Amino acid sequence: MLVEAPTFTETLLTFRKQGANCVGVPSDDDGIIPEEFERMLKSRSVRFLYTIPNFQNPSGRTSPLERRKEILAIAAKYDVPIFEDDPYHYLSYDEEAPATYLSLAGDDRRVLHSNSFSKLVAPGMRCGWLVVPDAIIPHLNAFRISAGLTRPAILQLGLFNYLNNANFGERVGFLRDTYRVRRDGMVKAIEKHLKPLGIKTNYPKGGFFLWGEARGVDDMTAFARFAVEKKKVGIIPGSAFYTIDEAKNGHDAFRISFAKVDPETAEEGIKRLAEAFREYGK
Ligand SMILES: Cc1ncc(COP(=O)(O)O)c(C=O)c1O
Repeated sequence: MLVEAPTFTETLLTFRKQGANCVGVPSDDDGIIPEEFERMLKSRSVRFLYTIPNFQNPSGRTSPLERRKEILAIAAKYDVPIFEDDPYHYLSYDEEAPATYLSLAGDDRRVLHSNSFSKLVAPGMRCGWLVVPDAIIPHLNAFRISAGLTRPAILQLGLFNYLNNANFGERVGFLRDTYRVRRDGMVKAIEKHLKPLGIKTNYPKGGFFLWGEARGVDDMTAFARFAVEKKKVGIIPGSAFYTIDEAKNGHDAFRISFAKVDPETAEEGIKRLAEAFREYGK
């Protein structure tokens, strides 16, 4: 299967456990690069493409509508299904997320769409929903059972009751307002402390993450260890989000999560991170 490079590590682990060989498709700020996707489809047999099109974990990137249409057209040309993992869909802070692959595909049923209540109701809920063609439901049920039986009934009932009583629009509005403040606080702190050091970061329009690149740092894993030991500040090295064969691609990159960080903490944390970058290797 093909995945965005970088991508969500746990997906790589999950699919590998099922025997899949995951290969990364080079991506840019707009997500999967169409020419690279097509080049890879020409040269190997691919079972499906896994993508996180909105506010991606780990990069915070979102594929614009035009890019999605291009990717979908290529997938159709080579008859490859798309697995669209969209747990951050509703967590947009500037504008609504572009149309999903699922809706763009219409009657062409090549898209499997997944979403999660973990980001909308409670962290770690690990319960979500799938939209898939009828024909594969029995296979997915078998897979679900082999992957860990089922979600506890008490959790499913609690969620069912919650969804019957909650006002979903209000809930999403509350989450957007809360996380937007955190995103803005993190971006402001980065502008102040990291930008002057020449460290590049992107601007996520939603979700929980932003992606940075520090040219000159050859081993971000060693730097991350240094930062946590010396300054008590945590980042995840970029190499953690690539397949083992491609891990070197993330050697100077890192992921920051702003999900649980209020603006004051972001200011202090990024100040410390900047100190760590200045002191590292001296
Ligand atoms: C892209 C992506 N997919 C799936 C998940 C997992 O969702 P759940 O909590 O429902 O297992 C996450 C959680 O971090 C994620 O970032």
